Amino acid sequence: MHILVTGGAGFIGSHTLIELYKAGHTAVVVDNLSNSNPVALQRVEEIINSGNHAIPFYKVDIRDREGLERVFAEHRFDACIHFAGLKAVGESVEKPWEYYENNIGGTLVLVDVMRKHGCKNIIFSSSATVYGDPAEIPITENCPKGQCTNPYGWTKSMLEQVLMDIQKADPEWNVVLLRYFNPVGAHPSGRIGEDPSGIPNNLMPYITQVAVGKREELGVFGDDYDTPDGTGVRDYIHVCDLASAHVASLQCFTHAFTHSRIHTFIYNVGTGHGYSVLDMVKAFIKVNGVDVPYSIKPRRAGDIATCYCNPSKAKAELGWEAKNGIEEMVRDSWNWQKNNPNGYNA
Ligand code: NAD
Ligand code: UD1
Repeated sequence: MHILVTGGAGFIGSHTLIELYKAGHTAVVVDNLSNSNPVALQRVEEIINSGNHAIPFYKVDIRDREGLERVFAEHRFDACIHFAGLKAVGESVEKPWEYYENNIGGTLVLVDVMRKHGCKNIIFSSSATVYGDPAEIPITENCPKGQCTNPYGWTKSMLEQVLMDIQKADPEWNVVLLRYFNPVGAHPSGRIGEDPSGIPNNLMPYITQVAVGKREELGVFGDDYDTPDGTGVRDYIHVCDLASAHVASLQCFTHAFTHSRIHTFIYNVGTGHGYSVLDMVKAFIKVNGVDVPYSIKPRRAGDIATCYCNPSKAKAELGWEAKNGIEEMVRDSWNWQKNNPNGYNA
């Protein structure tokens, strides 16, 4: 298939490009580079060994209708994998308008241009955050959605609804909502990975920046949760597995799926295993043989104790399951960081 990948220069998008090409698909990237570096795309091309696979790249903002029109005028897409969006939870509390305008406004323009050009297949990057404080653990897709604790989370929850409503009104649409759990790791080559700007919000990039000497110590946000060791438990998933879930989801746009009357597909994308903050820190130290000093800090506002999924629906329907475990996750996160201490700005 020929796929439009919005946000393709970002962390998950760049890894997904590799899996797409590995599976024989082709892609076009649209990204405004607001949170990414074009070097990531050069390295993707290097990994997929692409003298003959230059991936067309358009530095276009998805809110820019004319810019998107130009892209669609030059390509006929079978589907769009839609990663583009702002994702910093704390920043979304400070700048809610910017988050709603970019994530929701941008998606509305994208979907409108897609339908005008007859491309009505979309895979949307959603998040486990839509479950709020989950009503059940492990979380299945039947778990009711919950109250998000920040505008970022609401953009995901609202966009799920927007896409489902559009699909309901026009059955030619096929909508896949992938609810990611906690992506970590990097491509095993160490050439692409997560390159957060400023102080990382998420656990794994913070750990790697402490390990590489950029930050003094990790703050562990709370050790008094109702979990085995008192620290928060999450479903960490290797980004290459997450990437391959997108390739597996393309099946939803093939006749075998769409001849049934179901055109909205929701999948949890996690491993089904919950690891605590200290599990991750200890695994990182053991596998990589580097120290990660840490100290216990107060809980972070908005955090929940435990969040992990039951990923069996994706396995049953898509034949997809995560292959990498905690060792590969911590190994590849470190491999990326130690080879690129300053991310793409080496
Ligand atoms: P990322 O920031 O690395 O990638 C997002 C990309 O979108 C960036 O390259 C950015 O420049 C681009 N972008 C942002 N706004 C844009 C716009 N208006 N027009 C064009 N490009 C734009 O983030 P990521 O970690 O790769 O996440 C990808 C998607 O997955 C996001 O939608 C994110 O919310 C979602 N998600 C991420 C996580 C996570 O932990 N990383 C978890 C759940 C969901
Ligand atoms: C966070 C977001 C979520 C988003 C996801 C992926 C919040 C409340 N939730 O999820 O909306 O979809 O990232 O981007 O921000 N931790 C530490 N020290 C740190 C960083 C994290 O102890 O420096 C702990 C957290 O308390 C948590 C675990 O590590 O228990 C994972 O945190 P993080 O990586 O930020 O992911 P989530 O909070 O699950």
